[in-house]
Amino acid sequence: MKLKTQVLYVSGTGNTEKVAEAIYQAIPGFSKDIKKLDSCFEKYAADTYFVGFWANRGSASVEVLDFLSSLHGKSVALFATCGMGEDPEYYKKIEKNVTAFLPEDNYYLGSFFCHGKMPIKVRQRYEHMAARNPDSRVFQMLRNFDEALLHPDRKDLENARHFVANVFQKAQGNLSR
Ligand SMILES: Cc1cc2nc3c(=O)[nH]c(=O)nc-3n(C[C@H](O)[C@H](O)[C@H](O)COP(=O)(O)O)c2cc1C
Repeated sequence: MKLKTQVLYVSGTGNTEKVAEAIYQAIPGFSKDIKKLDSCFEKYAADTYFVGFWANRGSASVEVLDFLSSLHGKSVALFATCGMGEDPEYYKKIEKNVTAFLPEDNYYLGSFFCHGKMPIKVRQRYEHMAARNPDSRVFQMLRNFDEALLHPDRKDLENARHFVANVFQKAQGNLSR
């Protein structure tokens, strides 16, 4: 079935899934669908894609990169959650690493990033590091971990919905040129 807009995402612990649902709700019209990337059997039926992922070692997981590299002639927006919070420079780097996989015959609509909580074992690792070498960097990592526990929060989801509105404005401009 032909679709206007498809939200496809991967989410290990639910953060990206929350953002995906907010994004899906904000997409105008009825010709839209939301699925986990690995359970979507008809991945190429839409014109516009919102592809969501969690930051994985400065990039996205292989299944996301593989999917992006298989897209041609589509409009594509990205969204992601990251353990690292409120760091536009860092988000830009991840965006660059991921969009490198998107073929140039697609129309890129931009990205939305927000903070996402991490498993408690990450904090335990930081605590061990702090005990061995109590420098300011590791305390910053602990602070970042604790801030992440609240995310994605209501404001993040609201920002995600604004992002969708901007994407559609931009897409409209592209159509009318
Ligand atoms: C193996 C692994 C690698 C990660 N790498 C990064 C990273 O490079 N940068 C970052 O900001 N967060 C990183 N994180 C944190 C996750 O991206 C973050 O917690 C995200 O919100 C998880 O989303 P999810 O709940 O949808 O799985 C990593 C997490 C895991 C498990």
